Amino acid sequence: MSALPLNPALFHLDKDHLWVMHCSEGPVPRAGMRVARAFMQKELRPWEVRWEEDFQGIPAALRAEAAALLGGRPEDISLSPTTSSALVTVAQGFPWEPGDEVLAPLGEFPSNAWPWLALRSRGVRFREVPLWEGHRAGVEAWASEPPRAESDPETRLIEAIGPRTRILALSWVRFQDGLKLDLQRLGVACKDRGVHLVVDGIQAAGTVPANLEGLSAFATGGHKGLLSPQGMGFLWTDEHFRQSLSPSGTWLSVEDATDFSRPSTDFDRAWLADGRALEPGGPNLLQASTLLESLRLINGARVPAIAAHVALLQARLLDALDDTGWRSDVERLRLLLQGGRLGSILALHHSGKGPEVLDRLLKAGYRQGVFASVREGYLRVAFHGYHTEADGDRVAAWLRGSTAIVDDPWSRSDRARHDHTGILQSH
Ligand SMILES: Cc1ncc(COP(=O)(O)O)c(C=O)c1O
Repeated sequence: MSALPLNPALFHLDKDHLWVMHCSEGPVPRAGMRVARAFMQKELRPWEVRWEEDFQGIPAALRAEAAALLGGRPEDISLSPTTSSALVTVAQGFPWEPGDEVLAPLGEFPSNAWPWLALRSRGVRFREVPLWEGHRAGVEAWASEPPRAESDPETRLIEAIGPRTRILALSWVRFQDGLKLDLQRLGVACKDRGVHLVVDGIQAAGTVPANLEGLSAFATGGHKGLLSPQGMGFLWTDEHFRQSLSPSGTWLSVEDATDFSRPSTDFDRAWLADGRALEPGGPNLLQASTLLESLRLINGARVPAIAAHVALLQARLLDALDDTGWRSDVERLRLLLQGGRLGSILALHHSGKGPEVLDRLLKAGYRQGVFASVREGYLRVAFHGYHTEADGDRVAAWLRGSTAIVDDPWSRSDRARHDHTGILQSH
């Protein structure tokens, strides 16, 4: 394997913690700690916080770096604390008519459900679409069939678009099964039908190369593949789509907001046309500086190189699991991987093993210093640009060594009782 896209030495990794769960929370690079400390040093002496360099400069640099990550324009970026807050901004600002509809895949992470469900009192319907045969979610999540290479989730979504559908809202990479949707195909179909494609991109940002063609909005938090602390992310909006949204209405949403030669109480001002109109107010400079540092690192490494590296590690891990209790799922995942259907989450389906088995497996991993996660019937292993082949081999050794747990007959006979239990929390 050639040089790693991200040097592991940039992170505070140790041999007792092999972290393969940036799909929950990514490790922050050491440089993030340095910039946070430097910024707090300034805050101790507020006369050192500079108006242009910090108050305006940090958010502007972050918007530019976020735009570079997505291949977009800085003026289309709005800083937003989380994926949820970004989607809420779109949901609350959109010009709805009673009877309008938001369409979404079945089993979205709640960040991409509650903002739309909250519109019920305004007469807006939220409709979920199963993406493949046997796809289930909610209390039936553990009884779901997993996605397969021959599944065609895009066609199901496109065919489900109805006369009142205004927005199709979906995760680019799904949090539980790791399936990556074809945004360009969906974008073209949405455009043809006058529907807006709104994307929750948090499980792909930083590990999958982006293409904004055909999208109306893209939301992400910074705390997963973008390797930053929780609480700072961004929203990208297409210029024309943004003009249809209500602005946030903060003191910074208007022209000349920081020109103090003009009385701040002069409310005769135009709304800003760029992404700042959708921001939530004064920027969180501490968090913006850490996300900025992480984005510089990721853009420097180049996302296509990270994605290619992750795919190599995934293929290698699948090869190592060919003759284990996971064999029935390995071929399914291999075909998905070869078809370009996966992001950085390799999600092994429990295939009837049930929550107890997966929980014991996870705990066996913790004891060996391997930290993976379980969500809704899937054991998730998420590689990033700093993982090595040796890391992959260690994950393989854990899973191969857990054959007794996977094949435990008690667990199998007991599993029917637990088919409908919910998410197992991993930490
Ligand atoms: C697909 C998806 N969207 C959103 C989130 C959470 O995003 P935020 O906390 O930034 O709102 C998660 C977290 O697990 C997720 O997997």
